[in-house]
Amino acid sequence: MRRKRCSVSSRYDLVVRNGTIVDGTRAPRYRADLAVTGDRISAVGSISEKGKLEIDASGLVVAPGFIDSHTHDDRLMLSAPDMAPKVSQGVTTVVAGNCGISLAPAPRGMSAPVLPPIDLLDDGGAWFRFPTFRSYVEELAAHPAATNCALLVGHTMLRAQVMDDLRRPASGNETGKMREMTDEALAAGAIGVSTGLYYEPARAATTQEVIEVCRPLGERRGIYCTHMRDEGDRVVESLEESFRIGRELGVPVVISHHKVVGTPNHGRSAETLPIIERAMRSQKIGLDCYPYRASSTILSYSRTLVAATTLVTWSKPHPEFAGFKLDEVAARMGLGIEETVAKLLPAGAIYFSMDEADVQRILAFEHTMIGSDGLPHDAAPHPRLWGTFARVLGHYSRGLNLFPLETAVYKMTGLTASAFALEERGVLREGAFADIAIFDAGEVDETATFERPIQPAKGIRTVIVNGAVAWQAGKPTGARPGRVLRRSR
Ligand code: ZN
Ligand code: CU
Repeated sequence: MRRKRCSVSSRYDLVVRNGTIVDGTRAPRYRADLAVTGDRISAVGSISEKGKLEIDASGLVVAPGFIDSHTHDDRLMLSAPDMAPKVSQGVTTVVAGNCGISLAPAPRGMSAPVLPPIDLLDDGGAWFRFPTFRSYVEELAAHPAATNCALLVGHTMLRAQVMDDLRRPASGNETGKMREMTDEALAAGAIGVSTGLYYEPARAATTQEVIEVCRPLGERRGIYCTHMRDEGDRVVESLEESFRIGRELGVPVVISHHKVVGTPNHGRSAETLPIIERAMRSQKIGLDCYPYRASSTILSYSRTLVAATTLVTWSKPHPEFAGFKLDEVAARMGLGIEETVAKLLPAGAIYFSMDEADVQRILAFEHTMIGSDGLPHDAAPHPRLWGTFARVLGHYSRGLNLFPLETAVYKMTGLTASAFALEERGVLREGAFADIAIFDAGEVDETATFERPIQPAKGIRTVIVNGAVAWQAGKPTGARPGRVLRRSR
């Protein structure tokens, strides 16, 4: 740690005083001031020189801005660029384009997606306006959001454009076209490819198809992120498939929102985590997790069968039932569950289908990053959208003491920046980018609930992105300092 004493002239745009630094590396906290010049941290230590702007952080923690390792914020960055659900929690960078779904490439006039979750980011098609990945990156650069982003291109989106029937494996010709689109996206700034092999529009893809479509990742130093084929009975086989794809391509793998779903599988994280740990010895693997035992995705009858309770998050034909329990909707409609689901579709849902012990074991696993998997366009979204980071800091770290504050911060900063190779992010040290979250460690927690999910976290005081204050006194400042980040290696 370099500590600087004061000097003569005023070089600092911003000085954060008297804070407790939790630097994102898991190092023990310490008291220091922190100065920012332009978009970088210019000093950490005892700083006597005044900054153009002064922030008193007495009694508060000063940490790197959080990196949301798993999001679906592709469109939110353009449609609601203050990024309130994220910045309000201290998030300064989002990894978008997960689960096989990205906003680009998706040309204007792309035929109306019939198979969910292609409609995850846009149900009407109006946001399908980016014929190439480059055109999307250029739009984000021309109209920046409040947060930085790192972008994945979704395999399912590529299938939707080159195939007439998504319920079969791609032909050699189609695979070749998808591979070219992957290459275009990576050249334009995507950091990798995501798949959503669980979902119907990608389920028929063979392992070999995925490998061939992802082939450019090796040369372009990309990363492979996957919502695996199965997170229930066949979770181990799905892990093996994901590892194989990474090995054959020679690229890092991120297992998205790791979980074990369905009552018969409860407890099996005790089996999956050692498998992941063993594979990590021979290849690069990361994983993320959201801190809840309820999942959220599209409504499907089969998923309701393995869930103790199901909540409706949105419904196209019946928007009035957003936020209701499925049982209650069935009672009101006077129908069985299967018929009720059919009436509500297309729709989204929250499923209480995990075991709390698994959630805690996965969260506490040394290599697990925090990712919200928030669904920003749902009418009654899962509270993870507004609550994830504050809940890990408040409920799991401070409340249950699942791990110390330094570890909680590391799981949302330094660990994530290193997994995605985001250089000079996720740490507080001289020379790093000035992405900073200032919060009250004794107060921070989510306020979002399953009943009232749209609520900013409490205890977050100031959030700084690339040196600009983006969140202050409980609201966005209007600053839009976000950038499109690339992988450094
Ligand atoms: Zn997913
Ligand atoms: Cu997701």
